[in-house]
Amino acid sequence: MSMILTIADLKDLARRRVPKMFFDYADSGGWTESTYRANEEDFQKIKFRQRVLVDMSNRSLESTMIGEKVAMPVALAPTGMTGMQHPDGEMLAAQAAEEFGVPFTLSTMSICSIEDVASVTKKPFWFQLYVLRDKDFVLDLIDRAKAAKCSALVLTLDLQILGQRHKDIRNGLSAPPRFTPKHIWQMATRPGWCIGMAGTKRRTFRNIVGHAKGVGDLTSLSSWTTEQFDPHLSWKDVAWIKERWGGKLILKGILDKEDALMAAKTGADAIIVSNHGGRQLDGASSSIAVLEEIADAVGDTIEVHMDGGIRSGQDVLKALCLGAKGTYIGRPFLYGLGALGKDGVTKALEIIRKEMDITLALCGKRLVTDMGKDQLRR
Ligand SMILES: Cc1cc2nc3c(=O)[nH]c(=O)nc-3n(C[C@H](O)[C@H](O)[C@H](O)COP(=O)(O)O)c2cc1C
Repeated sequence: MSMILTIADLKDLARRRVPKMFFDYADSGGWTESTYRANEEDFQKIKFRQRVLVDMSNRSLESTMIGEKVAMPVALAPTGMTGMQHPDGEMLAAQAAEEFGVPFTLSTMSICSIEDVASVTKKPFWFQLYVLRDKDFVLDLIDRAKAAKCSALVLTLDLQILGQRHKDIRNGLSAPPRFTPKHIWQMATRPGWCIGMAGTKRRTFRNIVGHAKGVGDLTSLSSWTTEQFDPHLSWKDVAWIKERWGGKLILKGILDKEDALMAAKTGADAIIVSNHGGRQLDGASSSIAVLEEIADAVGDTIEVHMDGGIRSGQDVLKALCLGAKGTYIGRPFLYGLGALGKDGVTKALEIIRKEMDITLALCGKRLVTDMGKDQLRR
């Protein structure tokens, strides 16, 4: 563990420990992956102003996201099939986030269910909702998140249809994995993962199986998910979801200022400037490239969060400077989980925290909440 110094180190280790089809599922974007690459590359173009001889003592990374106190403004993003990176992955990541003091967001398409995660955490986590055609199932999911005392609903807007990721098709991705010679080989070369998976009963989409009508077994699940994403979703749907939920609502997947202005009118608590980690519309802008324009457009009418391409604490600070009140990491925590389980998620958060702290000091600031456009060289 001592020589793991960067998120890239965790990624290298995860590649060696997670079967190829699941590692590739995390490390992939839509079509040519140009937006996936741009998310990371565009951060490199942004430069800080270095300041000297200012008092750097008593620094703090504490902030708030939608009114909740956070140890640093970095939440774990909702990611599907996290329990395939590591056995019981969502439960372990939620525990790591809780102990660290940052929010954990559980995906609708998770392996561990809402109830599984609630059973191993003490503080409320956030739940991400996909609006599916089966509205009874959606209403039930909202009610289950309420019953589990989730403190925010993250409604994902950018996946009404699924973008194409070539790696997943070539790999024949599924959960649980199929037992073809190729898949058996991929798993046999990752014995630690296999032993862990043999020791858990959580190997399929547990928010769905046994809850959605007609989905009692794995054969029907695969046809159900491909048919279920709802292409009819519109701004009007946000209203009934908001009403049924009745708590804090975050709208995820905004990349255009017109949409951001529409989102602000819904009365939601926050938007997430996001392109789904470059997994949906390949050829769209990176999140960081559009963040400032969107934050300026909505002003203080709605809280602005962002995700996509954050690989260091420096990237988090750049996003805060350009108008984000909070950020999310997807792949960085998945790599940590695949590499070292719960300890790896903690490690990813520690790496980011240390990078934020040192950068904050060298920019001449003591409070993360003081970072603004002035700290960037433009
Ligand atoms: C493997 C994987 C699965 C994802 N699944 C979901 C999901 O189920 N729901 C969702 O809203 N976003 C999902 N996302 C998008 C993330 O929430 C987030 O927007 C993205 O990962 C941020 O980019 P980053 O990975 O570069 O940090 C997924 C991302 C990845 C990498």
